Amino acid sequence: MRAYGFTEVGGPEKEGFLDVPVPDPGPGELLVRVRAAGVNPGDWRLREGSYGVLGPAVLGREVAGTVTAVGSDVDGFSVGDEVFGGCPGMVGGWAEQALVTASFAAHRSDAVPPEMAAVLPVAAGTAHDALRNLGLRAGATLLVNGAGGGVGIPVVQLARAWGITVVGVASPAKHDLVAGFGAIPVAYGDGLLDRVRAAAPGGVDAVFDLVGGEALRTVAGLVADRSKLLSVADKPLVRELGGRDVERDRSTAVLTGLAELVASKALDPRVTRVRPLDEAGEALAEVENGHVVGKVVLVP
Ligand SMILES: NC(=O)c1ccc[n+]([C@@H]2O[C@H](COP(=O)([O-])OP(=O)(O)OC[C@H]3O[C@@H](n4cnc5c(N)ncnc54)[C@H](OP(=O)(O)O)[C@@H]3O)[C@@H](O)[C@H]2O)c1
Repeated sequence: MRAYGFTEVGGPEKEGFLDVPVPDPGPGELLVRVRAAGVNPGDWRLREGSYGVLGPAVLGREVAGTVTAVGSDVDGFSVGDEVFGGCPGMVGGWAEQALVTASFAAHRSDAVPPEMAAVLPVAAGTAHDALRNLGLRAGATLLVNGAGGGVGIPVVQLARAWGITVVGVASPAKHDLVAGFGAIPVAYGDGLLDRVRAAAPGGVDAVFDLVGGEALRTVAGLVADRSKLLSVADKPLVRELGGRDVERDRSTAVLTGLAELVASKALDPRVTRVRPLDEAGEALAEVENGHVVGKVVLVP
């Protein structure tokens, strides 16, 4: 079958279409005919070797599709089911057929289109888990660094629904979007901390960083209690600063809950672009650029 991936670790020049066999579902796995697949920064990080996958490998860590085969030790899923979920080993989604981890998969109802379901496991799932990890109460204030991106958009919406005040750091072009989801938008760059103090005169109770590097260093000092400093963009630096990475709960229950929120229109993952699989390279370049709005999706 046709799939998009990389031949060896490196830059975009290592990407291309691969002719690979249809995988066999192992224990705890489903095989699905892919209807839609999410594009994430983790895909180019994987190609660059951050996760130890040397290639050749098919990119794509989350999909929605129709179950075509079920591995052993799987309960609750059958051939023909419409599902969405995460791919084993964070690879294999950008293809006509892909494996999905059954324990990190859920049924998809007609109320949630495949393009929306496909982007829930990584970005919205991380947003959900970050809020759970932080354990903030209603009335607390959370700063989201990178509020207009794939993870930022769901975290703003979930936090607002949980009664949390959100200060959303984003470029001015995304301020209307971020404000539309109920956050107080703040531009990054010189004077950021003054703008945050003006937006949240009582201070912030927690920081969730989606950018890393100097942008993380700048906002880290806003929380004295470093157990309330989280980043998924720069794990070494957040640990150095006394904070932590998000502990993921890759479960069917979390995905089912997120899909119910989408179905009831309480959560919009904001899919801004749907491209054919033929344009996988362009889609990944768009995300690798680091300033994409919302989510990009591939359709085989
Ligand atoms: N579980 C995990 O480990 C996990 C899961 C998901 C994501 N991640 C990581 O988390 C990060 C974010 O993922 P994502 O999907 O949300 O990426 P994304 O869609 O690219 O969003 C990142 C956002 O940061 C904004 N940004 C860039 N520079 C900034 C700065 N200096 N200050 C504030 N905002 C800035 C960008 O937009 P503007 O500059 O246009 O405002 C963009 O909206 C990535 O590094 C990804 O690999 C990790």
